[in-house]
Amino acid sequence: MTGFATAPGRVNLIGEHIDYNGGTVLPAALSVGVSVELAPVNDDTVEITADQYDMSAQRQLSDDAVGDWSDASVGALREANALGLLSGGAKIAIRSNIPQGAGLSSSAALTVAILKAARNAVGASTPGDQDIAIAARRVENDYLGVPCGIMDQFAVAIATPGTAMALNTASLEYELLELPKEYTFVVIHSGVSRKLTDGRYKERKVECDEVKAYFETDDLCSLEQGDIAASSLHEAARRRAVHCVTEHRRVLATVAALKAGDVETIGAMMNASHISMRDDFEMSVEPIDGLVASSIGLGAIGARLTGGGFGGCIVALVEESRKERWQTRVLGAHPDAWFVCEA
Ligand code: GLA
Repeated sequence: MTGFATAPGRVNLIGEHIDYNGGTVLPAALSVGVSVELAPVNDDTVEITADQYDMSAQRQLSDDAVGDWSDASVGALREANALGLLSGGAKIAIRSNIPQGAGLSSSAALTVAILKAARNAVGASTPGDQDIAIAARRVENDYLGVPCGIMDQFAVAIATPGTAMALNTASLEYELLELPKEYTFVVIHSGVSRKLTDGRYKERKVECDEVKAYFETDDLCSLEQGDIAASSLHEAARRRAVHCVTEHRRVLATVAALKAGDVETIGAMMNASHISMRDDFEMSVEPIDGLVASSIGLGAIGARLTGGGFGGCIVALVEESRKERWQTRVLGAHPDAWFVCEA
């Protein structure tokens, strides 16, 4: 039988690079997304068509990842086999309107949608969405070689458009929160595209792992700043750790502010987060810094880089009634930038 499933893209409102360091993060589901139609086959062939590439691919379930766009689908189908949902390959048709290389989790959404479509194709009720998210992360970590955390897969497997997910990445407990009315989170692409496989994401992960080994903890977010300053870690590692500690606190403050409808505090936390990503985690690039500065200068309540860093998108909190004028002026000042969507 054919199975169908969808998954949204996500934008992270705040809490960057702490989902593999024990922190709480706050992604929101987007209205753009991916849909997958999957028909199991009796042998090990994988046949994929993808409208966004205007392409198709023929692969084998036994294939290693080769750096091709079709790898994520092969990895997801291998996981569907490991979970007992399929015994063999599949024909899959993908439709997506999530921009690639923008840091909006197109890859997590695709993997999650394939796993859910496989579950629907066989009419199974297990694994549940959380286990699907964990399986989708395994595809990234073990098959595609991307050392990402759990945020993206969790958000796209569980959150629905219009809600943010406060996710404790250590316990995997989460809360879905309504986004503020009369305000909008606008996602703008800087024009600088990036990939998690390009090495810089991994560099940061390695630096964080050094700090973990030094302090013998997986939870960088709970370290004391005094202990970090007094450590014999090298300067860059110390700054990465400071980002984790301060970013985690900003997320908790943002979650409280979201519940209280205090948009000024949300904006202040976003602005402080950007400075921390720029100076302590060193994951920003000049066009992004310029875009964030203009966004705030032209009236956003807060703005920051979002996602893995080194390019991609910013997210800005803007009053709904001022959005159009604000957007026209921001894009006018940054000809390479383009509007992606709103959360
Ligand atoms: C990417 C990764 C996530 C997370 C963010 C940075 O989106 O997939 O796990 O680490 O970067 O916050």
